[in-house]
Amino acid sequence: MSARPETEARAGAPLGKPWIDHWLDSLQDLTQLKSQHPMMDAVIDEIDGRMIRVGDRWLADFASCNYLGFDLDPEIQGAVPAYLEAWGTHPSWSRLLGSPILYEQIEERLTDLLGCEDTLALPTITHIHMSVIPLLAASGTIFLDARAHKTIYDGCQVARARGAAVRRFRFEDPDHLDELLSAERDRTRLVCMDGVNSMTGNAPDLPAFAEVARRHGALLYIDDAHGFGVIGERGPGDDCPYGRRGNSIVRHFDEGYENVVLVGGFSKAWSSLLAFVACPTELKDLLKVAAPPYLYSGPSPVASLATVLAGFDVNERRGDELRKELHRHTKRVLDAARSLGIATPNRSELPIVEFPVRDHTRIDSVGRLLFERGVYVTLAAYPLVPKAEVGFRVQLTASNTDEEVATLIAVLEELAERGEMQPAGVIPPSVTA
Ligand SMILES: Cc1ncc(COP(=O)(O)O)c(C=O)c1O
Repeated sequence: MSARPETEARAGAPLGKPWIDHWLDSLQDLTQLKSQHPMMDAVIDEIDGRMIRVGDRWLADFASCNYLGFDLDPEIQGAVPAYLEAWGTHPSWSRLLGSPILYEQIEERLTDLLGCEDTLALPTITHIHMSVIPLLAASGTIFLDARAHKTIYDGCQVARARGAAVRRFRFEDPDHLDELLSAERDRTRLVCMDGVNSMTGNAPDLPAFAEVARRHGALLYIDDAHGFGVIGERGPGDDCPYGRRGNSIVRHFDEGYENVVLVGGFSKAWSSLLAFVACPTELKDLLKVAAPPYLYSGPSPVASLATVLAGFDVNERRGDELRKELHRHTKRVLDAARSLGIATPNRSELPIVEFPVRDHTRIDSVGRLLFERGVYVTLAAYPLVPKAEVGFRVQLTASNTDEEVATLIAVLEELAERGEMQPAGVIPPSVTA
């Protein structure tokens, strides 16, 4: 898409659609990929387990974040009709106006699972970042993880517009955070970062970050969208590196909640539209009157509240078995990558595995080959990621089959043989630094 000629604009000719043209220009690569690539903006016609049909092609899905496979679990599916009968399909009050008791039940069970003082449930993490970050930052200073999720960045932008300052610290670098906090004179300090990173699949050194934040009197705000349901508390006799109960990053590192606000969501591992803030009751009470989604936004559908509640029971009884299965699939893919000598930033064995391609201009054809071989992944194209990190991301779930994983590994082998993959040891600097 070429830019509108300057002369046309100067001559006062019709302006076209500047609100669209500007974006088509700056997102040229992505726009092109979206309009032409079968793995972008694809319409999924049908699913069968973790197989999906796009047009006339069946593919093994490695792009969903349904890590525990709750979306396909008969026990969880079977719990929904009774809730619909009791509550209808959608309550439609904002929570302040009318909060079905299901929320109280969810918050009670969640608080117990996380081992925190209290929790507040809101529809999505995006709602939470956009409303809670500006509230906590006020006109103070935010210290932002340079590679935090886009929705955290957006929350910080809102905070900035309301008078907060934003400084970025280097990814996975608590010493840099320490340096910035040491130089800061503002007394209101909020550190915003990801838990398990949605691109690298690694967890940050939470104890190091929490120590730095507490020493400088800062509040640590952490988004563990991808850790909740997957990683949890550890103890003697654990036979899975993810730990037990899936109760998120704070418990995984045996950290406390002092000066920590944990945000997470049910929309990934738990396959339900709901999110939460784990915080002291005092803050929860404030959020109920000051965080706009509690007052103004529509609620989650009843089916999602039902699957969250049923998910607690399944997590308690079978969650650790499902996490073991999830780890087994992930380890199989990582072992294959290691023996093929191809790069991935994943060093955690968590189920997010990013594979950078050797040449970023080849992402279109690499994606097509995956599609043709029946493997559906997330393409990480420029400008979603820097050119040096262009590649694709694979997410495993407990409900993938061994056969599906074998299909994925066979395509990785083919891509490695064709020289399309980045060799191990050449991890892009911004992923590691
Ligand atoms: C780290 C992280 N935070 C937040 C979100 C957004 O979550 P939600 O859909 O609940 O707004 C995502 C979703 O991809 C994510 O990966």
